[in-house]
Amino acid sequence: MQVNGQAYRSIWLAADGVGVEIIDQTRLPFRFEVVRLERLEEATSAISRMLVRGAPLIGATAAYGLCLGLRQATGSQALEEMARQLIACRPTAVNLRWAVERMLRCLLPLSEERRLAAAYREAGRICEEDVATNEAIGRHGLSLIRELWQRKKAGEAVNILTHCNAGWLATVDWGTALAPVYAAAAAGIPIHVWVDETRPRNQGASLTAWELVAAGIPHHLLVDNAGGHLMQHGRVDLCIVGTDRTTASGDVCNKIGTYLKALAARDNGVPFYVALPGSTVDWTVDDGVMEIPIEERGTEEVLRVQGEDDSGTLRIVAIAPAATPAVNPAFDVTPARLVTGLITERGICPASREGLRGLYPEQGQ
Ligand code: MRU
Repeated sequence: MQVNGQAYRSIWLAADGVGVEIIDQTRLPFRFEVVRLERLEEATSAISRMLVRGAPLIGATAAYGLCLGLRQATGSQALEEMARQLIACRPTAVNLRWAVERMLRCLLPLSEERRLAAAYREAGRICEEDVATNEAIGRHGLSLIRELWQRKKAGEAVNILTHCNAGWLATVDWGTALAPVYAAAAAGIPIHVWVDETRPRNQGASLTAWELVAAGIPHHLLVDNAGGHLMQHGRVDLCIVGTDRTTASGDVCNKIGTYLKALAARDNGVPFYVALPGSTVDWTVDDGVMEIPIEERGTEEVLRVQGEDDSGTLRIVAIAPAATPAVNPAFDVTPARLVTGLITERGICPASREGLRGLYPEQGQ
């Protein structure tokens, strides 16, 4: 996507073909800073500290992290240890495990001398496939938006509510939930996005809003609790969110607060869609609420917020008494019954075992 007239992806191989470059997402929307990763530890730190975040981008970063690690150490044991370290960085988004396991499947059978070049090739493929996958999600999601638009009065925009950031910054390019939004804008369909701020880290306010400003797409930011009210008043036509892990039965784990939006959508008859690549489905898990590990992050994310003051200085300020304890579950699970449909790179299906198996028959029983 374009940033100040220049095309960017969220991760890329540096010009020297060795280092890996990312955008430090903890500094957006106030600073646009590119960071170069050269060592495995820098990749694990970028994932854990959320310089990169979003399920597909975490996977892509981990794939390149293994390339960097292979420059530091060789041997299958070392490779497997690096894989363990990367997978442990964030427990919920399954794309991380998916990408690392794919890299291991590619690398372990090879001789030592061939591994490094093969690793860079495979990580590059993971990135290219992610871009193509998300473009396809955009095309399928566009059909939904077009259908809603055709039912609107002339000149009226389709109002789409999204939670967290599932735009290009969360993937290698295009995004998942925002890919249909970008496709609709490109097709000339008038759209307007309601952006949930997404406490505690405010990915909606800092990342989704930044993406939409850059793309010139009309939007408004709202506090997380406002969505239900807007739905009651007919101001939301469609919800589209991303997901960090979707079970084989269609339960959807996504950023904390997604479940409440799905409940409000169901109560108000608003279609609630989830956009995802096949790599986000965890075929080994059935019951999302009981089986998906939910990342618990530091309570400082709840007790403090980061922002820019009027002098342009980035500051972190406390918002609660110093003695107040907090909890910080980073994700929640929306049961399949509340999800209208899943928008994948292979088409749209019901959020159910049958729906997913219909699109991914190779996953067997
Ligand atoms: O904690 P984050 O910022 O990594 O969480 C991101 C989300 O929850 C996204 O909605 C999800 O990863 C889908 S991204 C295409």
